Amino acid sequence: MFEWNNSYAIGIASIDAQHRTLFDLSAKLHQAMSAGQGKAAVGPILERLLQYTQAHFAHEERLMRIHDYPDFVAHKAQHDALTKQVADFSAKFKSGQGAITVQLLQFLKNWLVNHIKGTDMKYVPHLAAKAVA
Ligand code: FEO
Repeated sequence: MFEWNNSYAIGIASIDAQHRTLFDLSAKLHQAMSAGQGKAAVGPILERLLQYTQAHFAHEERLMRIHDYPDFVAHKAQHDALTKQVADFSAKFKSGQGAITVQLLQFLKNWLVNHIKGTDMKYVPHLAAKAVA
């Protein structure tokens, strides 16, 4: 479900590497769920995915801010919305009120692909013109 392919590459090396890590962590979550692993195994993967997502968004937001990207506010709003959804889910999972499902993973996959290919791709000309690599 979370295999990387080159159509997801935006051409900025630091960001492509982080996006690949997000796919890898999501794939680990999928594997753990498919193998029927319990909360003790799945919880830390989910937590790592949340932390890495936050670190990735902070990296992108810093680049957009220091290079005066004009659509920064709208882009950050998407980041904040996803972070809240993943954090809420993680809290529910920890308290035993939520389970990892195929639907949840499909939502995550769709979000990642749509955000990278749509929203992230839009800043590429702006950042590339500032020699961001
Ligand atoms: Fe790569 Fe805007 O997240």
